[in-house]
Amino acid sequence: MRDNAAHINQERPGQGLAEILRALKGSPSPVSGEALAGRLGLSRAAVWKRIQRLKARGYAIEGSPRRGYRLLAAPDKLLPEEVAPGLGARYLKGPIHHFESLPSTNDLAKDLGARGAPEGTVVVAESQTRGRGRLGRDWNSPPGVGLYVSLLLRPPLPPEELPQITLTAAVAAVKAVRRVTGLAAGIKWPNDLLWQGRKLGGILTEMETEADRIRHLVVGLGVNVNNRDFPPELAPTATSLALAGGGPVSRVRLLTAYLEEFEVLYERFLARAFGDILAEWKEYAVTLGRAVTVRQGPREISGLALEVAPDGALLVQTRPGEIVRVTSGEIAP
Ligand code: BTN
Repeated sequence: MRDNAAHINQERPGQGLAEILRALKGSPSPVSGEALAGRLGLSRAAVWKRIQRLKARGYAIEGSPRRGYRLLAAPDKLLPEEVAPGLGARYLKGPIHHFESLPSTNDLAKDLGARGAPEGTVVVAESQTRGRGRLGRDWNSPPGVGLYVSLLLRPPLPPEELPQITLTAAVAAVKAVRRVTGLAAGIKWPNDLLWQGRKLGGILTEMETEADRIRHLVVGLGVNVNNRDFPPELAPTATSLALAGGGPVSRVRLLTAYLEEFEVLYERFLARAFGDILAEWKEYAVTLGRAVTVRQGPREISGLALEVAPDGALLVQTRPGEIVRVTSGEIAP
């Protein structure tokens, strides 16, 4: 963890990179160094240095002394300067820490949380070597095709409300997926993202508590975005946005949309309006009204999925007159 934390300052976006990119993206013709310098309040030499930094990050920028700079191509990376427009004004304000590879974005976010990093810190990686899923599973995290992101939050709430945050994150994720791809993705209780019965993504929420309140929590989202194939053990049940929709999807747009949706929902959540969020969750739920089998280790609970309670528990009618509250486990595929 120490090594990861040491990388952070080097990986931070240089001041002005996002502004330069915005200017270049917004102009079909070259933008002169002088114009950029004027807009950013920098010297031309400082602009030149930042252009070199962008090139080092993979941006193809043509520069001519007479005409100026033109953006030819941007790398397919979740770089902070690309994602920053999705940051919120109140809660998800960043900073964004981006890595080529991490063991797990959740682990680093937890570590940063323990060191006092602010609410709204975002950790994102192009790949994970020890990505973790729910119920102690691994999360398949190949480079450059998935979204692996963790948000650090500090809600002033008791630990019992953790499931509600997870459901909130699932609503944000499904809304982002729908907005960016148009795919009618759904949510399988408690927080799997599904498309036509196959798993697109999931959420792993972890927290640190003190006395009876949350000290900090980490909401980790993993989405299969542009995966073309899966390891044999996942192939029968997993899919990706690209496979579902027939073409590549911009991970930058997806992450930006997720951050935007999360900001709005988190504000509502903190304003104690979880009822509204739960109502939205139910709109997207593919679980309710169906016969389900919930696996809790060796235990299985079968019945009709009736409802989700305000605390996030699934209510399963196992036989007439008997309703079981399920707070953990997973629904068999
Ligand atoms: C699940 O099992 O459905 C939850 C999967 C959560 C995976 C994400 S990827 C980003 C974050 N870092 C992790 O190690 N896990 C979560």
